[in-house]
Amino acid sequence: MSTQLVHTIAEVREAVASARRQGLTIEFVPTMGALHEGHGSLMDLARRPQGFLVVSIFVNPIQFDRPDDYERYPRTLEADVEFCRARGVDLVFAPSIEEMYPQPQRTFVEVTGLTEHLCGRFRPGHFRGVTTVVTKLFGIVQPDRAYFGEKDAQQLAVVRRMVRDLNLPVEIVSGPTVREADGLAMSSRNRRLDPEHRRAAPAIYRALQAAAARVAAGAEDPGEVRSAALRVLEAEPLLRVEYLEIVDPEEIQPVAGITDEVLIACAVWAGNVRLIDSVRARPGRGEVR
Ligand code: PAJ
Repeated sequence: MSTQLVHTIAEVREAVASARRQGLTIEFVPTMGALHEGHGSLMDLARRPQGFLVVSIFVNPIQFDRPDDYERYPRTLEADVEFCRARGVDLVFAPSIEEMYPQPQRTFVEVTGLTEHLCGRFRPGHFRGVTTVVTKLFGIVQPDRAYFGEKDAQQLAVVRRMVRDLNLPVEIVSGPTVREADGLAMSSRNRRLDPEHRRAAPAIYRALQAAAARVAAGAEDPGEVRSAALRVLEAEPLLRVEYLEIVDPEEIQPVAGITDEVLIACAVWAGNVRLIDSVRARPGRGEVR
């Protein structure tokens, strides 16, 4: 089986229709490219004997709140297509901006409530851009299943809720966060870290683990758990915390006390690179994977 690279919606529709005629299911991994093992793990999850595996690569302008972040976002299409080939992907869809947004987008999909905290608070319009492009991609690919990483825990919760609220005929499957050997969550933005900040960055996961350890030890006060994480991050002068919050994993609202599973999530600046990470933790048990 070879990997086909296409750039137009018409070509996707044709390839998907032909796969359906062969009785295959459509499995879909949406990405923004600069592919790494985090994306690869989702492709591994999505590859099925009777499935047709579609990966989209599109740096979606409407989900970026800062123009410099959009401009500096890594674009490595040739290597990405090779990556997909090695991973047994059937179809790579890499549309141009004009293909996705031929005229000003006047229709937006917005999930309320779940987008008030964490990244939603600091990146105005970000999730509206994500849910809008994901809805467009679902309309183009019409997948049976779509795969999302737990690394972007709020995005996963928001997409799940959107699919439920809008009765979209797609099943959302999630995959665990893939990390470097030193614990740093893999991210396309990691390649923008200079060596010093790269050395400092593993403190992010250590901080989340310290918080999860407090939950394991029975701490019920989110303030106490948060402080345990902040102590680790404050010891690293090259990192600046944007937020570190303890929320309900489905509604993404701060919890008053830790009596059930929680999501401990943070965004941290390492120089001019913004990194996010999170863990889920359960009372008496700690980090849940
Ligand atoms: P991107 O950041 O490229 O991520 C694509 C998918 O890979 C997302 O579901 C993300 O959660 C997952 N992923 C990224 N790093 C991961 C890691 N270290 N371990 C496991 N999974 C990881 O997320 C987006 O693109 C965009 O917002 C998108 C959904 C494509 C909409 O534009």
